[in-house]
Amino acid sequence: MKGHAEMFGITVSGHNCKRIAFGGWAIGGQFTTGVSDSNSLEALETAYHLGIRLIDTAPVYGNGHSEKLIGRFLKSRDRDHVFIATKFGMSWKTTSSGTRTMIRNTSGKALLKEVEGSLRRLRTDYIDLYQVHWPDPVTPVQETMDSLNHLKEQGKIRFVGVSNFSLAGIKEIEGDSPLDAVQGQYNLLSREYEGEFFDYLKEEHTQFLSYGTLAYGLLSGKYQSKEFSSEDWRRRGNSPTNNYFSPGNFEGNIQKANRLGSIAEKIGVTSAQLAIAWTLRHSFIYTLVGAKNSLQVQENAKALSLDLSTDVLRKLDNIFPK
Ligand SMILES: NC(=O)c1ccc[n+]([C@@H]2O[C@H](COP(=O)([O-])OP(=O)(O)OC[C@H]3O[C@@H](n4cnc5c(N)ncnc54)[C@H](OP(=O)(O)O)[C@@H]3O)[C@@H](O)[C@H]2O)c1
Repeated sequence: MKGHAEMFGITVSGHNCKRIAFGGWAIGGQFTTGVSDSNSLEALETAYHLGIRLIDTAPVYGNGHSEKLIGRFLKSRDRDHVFIATKFGMSWKTTSSGTRTMIRNTSGKALLKEVEGSLRRLRTDYIDLYQVHWPDPVTPVQETMDSLNHLKEQGKIRFVGVSNFSLAGIKEIEGDSPLDAVQGQYNLLSREYEGEFFDYLKEEHTQFLSYGTLAYGLLSGKYQSKEFSSEDWRRRGNSPTNNYFSPGNFEGNIQKANRLGSIAEKIGVTSAQLAIAWTLRHSFIYTLVGAKNSLQVQENAKALSLDLSTDVLRKLDNIFPK
């Protein structure tokens, strides 16, 4: 039996883990703007009090800053009331011309070192879910899995997941080591996982942690032009996972977001709530939503109580086809 039942069944001291998770990327503050540590800590507190107990982060989010903030937040909490998901195996290298390149290293040696850094920054002695951030084209996947199993035996991690893997890559791993969770980008603008991939996860009872739920703010409907500051990655739109903000796409995406907004208004919710609720229609999905302040968390959490009608789902399919 896979670990996910225990993992998400949720036993964190009597508190149910809601299917919205706190996404810790933006609070890392690197390539993002409009964040402050005090607002981030308040956002984490608000999430906690609303019953949001799953927190996703990674060492690469703000060069360890996201994990450090979460560690500060954890200090005043019972550790077993919160479920921490972090990652390993990815870093950025910036060339002298300012170009960013993604470095992937999931070798056993690197992983055993990385886990110690995450544990230290998070101020904890175990990680609930440890995820391979991106597939590493060089390291044999068995080497990575062996090291993860070693960490499990030591009690440093409880569950194992992968992120940004193809279905073939997941099947290759699952031949020997069943995964507890899979993470990937899924939102109204990116529905590629629907079909074979989701069918497989359902059959295998593997949880899916969806990220980019709001298409990085775009689906909230608040952006009508490229009003991002020069340090904000969305201004240039260079991301390894999407081109929502690149010239030629951005304008069309705004039009779609505005149409989403009209439907949301008719049913008395916000665009962000509708976009989040749309991902939650799949019961095996835990949706990761980033937030920079308490107000965003409060607004987004309300999506948990939305039940979307078939009429609304049909309208969304028309605007955002598969
Ligand atoms: N595995 C991976 O490779 C990977 C990649 C990306 C993300 N992730 C994970 O997934 C999480 C979620 O993705 P994300 O944070 O990048 O993007 P997201 O959830 O799609 O969007 C979050 C952003 O939307 C804006 N926002 C949030 N709530 C809002 C509201 N109610 N109204 C208006 N704007 C709102 C905020 O930015 P502004 O206010 O500035 O617009 C916030 O930072 C991440 O935090 C991270 O944990 C994983």
